[in-house]
Amino acid sequence: MSVIPISLNQLQPLSPEQHREWCAQLEAGDILYFPQTPIAIPEIDLQFLLGQQQTDSSLHKNIAYKPNIDRLSGVDTKTADAEAVAKLQGIMRKYSKSVTEFLTGFLEPYKANWQLDYASFRPQEEEGRDLPQRRRNDLLHTDAFPTRPTYGARILRFFNNIHPARTRDWVVSDPFAAIVKQFAPSEIAPRVDSALSRAAKSLGRGIGLDAAIPSIKRSPYDDFMMRFHNFLKENPDFQANCPKHSFNFPSGSSWMVYTDTVPHAVLAGQYALEQTFLVCPEALVRPEISPLKVLESIAGASLV
Ligand SMILES: [Fe+2]
Repeated sequence: MSVIPISLNQLQPLSPEQHREWCAQLEAGDILYFPQTPIAIPEIDLQFLLGQQQTDSSLHKNIAYKPNIDRLSGVDTKTADAEAVAKLQGIMRKYSKSVTEFLTGFLEPYKANWQLDYASFRPQEEEGRDLPQRRRNDLLHTDAFPTRPTYGARILRFFNNIHPARTRDWVVSDPFAAIVKQFAPSEIAPRVDSALSRAAKSLGRGIGLDAAIPSIKRSPYDDFMMRFHNFLKENPDFQANCPKHSFNFPSGSSWMVYTDTVPHAVLAGQYALEQTFLVCPEALVRPEISPLKVLESIAGASLV
């Protein structure tokens, strides 16, 4: 995997081949990095965001904005007044809209087949946060949502480091297809007689993933991805010995990555904005390397 820098003057005009190339690079596990963000965030909004600090870090990992219902969650109601909440909501609404407009053009092959998911504002210092193991950001993991199964849609995230001076320090590892196979290749080999649920369970067992997960209706694919997220965070050998690449994203930059594919950890940094998209399997330009297809080829069965 690599980090591919893109300057603002590379954005216009783009050929259809170039749009597909950006998508293909993302799908392969590369990070597309904009040293100067293409998202315009008014200075007055930035100053407001930089003045916010959640008081109880254990209660809320992030402030989330749900664009489809225009609602905020995770706001510290002990300290925030109604006016400040409304202002934050307005800023998040604008941010979500700006990122969506930009990516609708930039990732043109996806636009008919993706779903706008949550945006988030991350005002806390990431270094030294006291969070339960499975919620820690500083342990390498691939993303899966405990309450929002994707049924094979992929998790694409766009970030802005809005801290006025500091970098946001990431570590990433090799993409999903490389790491999932290294753990127990013989145990997760295809089983032609597997029913859907048995296929997913055998995948999970193959890498020791039998822990209970929330009982939300999800596909065998979602079940595996949630367990895999937990497994990576709880595996000290993987955390210590996997290949690691460090990237410190500067103040004012943006980057995007398939976080269900690229194991990532945030070691330090404060004040970031993020918008998530769920990209449907039909939209992918290289579906054969998606986590769904990689797992289905191992299981020998459909997983959604
Ligand atoms: Fe993550």
